[in-house]
Amino acid sequence: MKHTDSRLAKAFSIADLRLLAQKRLPQTVFEFIDGGAEDEITLRDNRAAFERIKITPRILNDVSAPDTSTSLLGKEAKAPIVIAPMGSCMLAWPNADIAIARAAAAHGLPYTLSTMSNTAMETMADAVQGELWFQLYVLKDRSFNEQLVERAWAAGYSALVVTVDLQAGGKRERDLKNGISIPLQISLKQVISGMTHPGWAWQMLRHGSPQFQNVKGYMGQQNADLTIAAKVGQSLDAAFSWEDLSRLRDQWKGKLLVKGVEHPLDAARLASLGVDSVWISNHGGRQLDGALATAVALPAIAKELAGKVDVIIDSGVRRGVDILKARALGAQAVAVGRAVLFGAAVAGEAGARHALQILIDELQLSMKLSGVGAVKNAQALLMS
Ligand SMILES: Cc1cc2nc3c(=O)[nH]c(=O)nc-3n(C[C@H](O)[C@H](O)[C@H](O)COP(=O)(O)O)c2cc1C
Repeated sequence: MKHTDSRLAKAFSIADLRLLAQKRLPQTVFEFIDGGAEDEITLRDNRAAFERIKITPRILNDVSAPDTSTSLLGKEAKAPIVIAPMGSCMLAWPNADIAIARAAAAHGLPYTLSTMSNTAMETMADAVQGELWFQLYVLKDRSFNEQLVERAWAAGYSALVVTVDLQAGGKRERDLKNGISIPLQISLKQVISGMTHPGWAWQMLRHGSPQFQNVKGYMGQQNADLTIAAKVGQSLDAAFSWEDLSRLRDQWKGKLLVKGVEHPLDAARLASLGVDSVWISNHGGRQLDGALATAVALPAIAKELAGKVDVIIDSGVRRGVDILKARALGAQAVAVGRAVLFGAAVAGEAGARHALQILIDELQLSMKLSGVGAVKNAQALLMS
């Protein structure tokens, strides 16, 4: 058994994978992935909110073969799980984007490629046979934006996920202290990090520092010393409005999802604009510290939308039972970010697959123990 395989075999939970990732990565990179904004209140609340939701199990249903399949945006997915868009993943593992997308495809799940990925969208589409969605950060340069959207359509991405909660880069103080940036800056801290994490440093030297491949030539090298969040934030169009979204709805021929929603009135307005999915998110606690935990936001949004459009929720999903809780409260699927990136940081594609397998196994177990034979019946767990 290879060293990485034996480490994965001993990782029984996402928390175990997180600890392994922490060991393998320099502190600067681990904290970029793991951390949140300011006092990290929303980061902690996201998790606490999922933990607070309790299930009232049902009994005497046939749960011998729990069925996790679900329809999502009119297609069948093997489980109600989507991979959330994550930029800068190649700080964690070479070709991490492709590794995670292949793991998702192997499990029959959609993968969302970030505008700020380190893999160009065309390279990704060539490398992966699976359902691919493209996440759009609305850039200040509208014509560059239009090119991104056209490229995504031409490359075969079936859905466009427009992220609307990054009007500015969140104040992530761990990153400010660590000076984490793309391209990587060779500071004394980075050199020491590299020396104390030789496996990671060797990979970085062999593959070179990650770049933002989709926006090459747009972000430039200027302000190279800004943190990743600040650099991304200053490139985005904080004036993007409801009218702009409505135009985008008319232009994009595929499914349109809006990510970063927390208020039920916004969810209702999005539905009336004809979006295909409302994606509840506070960016995993990385943007507005003090934003509502997503699991708290979910019931009111699900009630407002009353099944008219699919609801996706992310931020804080670390256990299979969280997925069952989200389904019970009216979400069609969860999206996972760090959970799968911790896996990839430990062992690339095998690690990402392992992370997804943990979540799916836990989901099936919690379905059995709560008497729900099919995930589409999870609402039977609601008391009223
Ligand atoms: C390292 C990292 C990079 C991220 N990059 C993006 C991004 O480029 N676009 C985006 O919409 N969200 C981004 N997010 C937010 C995720 O899409 C998602 O909302 C969040 O990770 C969900 O919380 P979780 O990590 O607790 O699952 C990023 C998150 C992380 C951890």
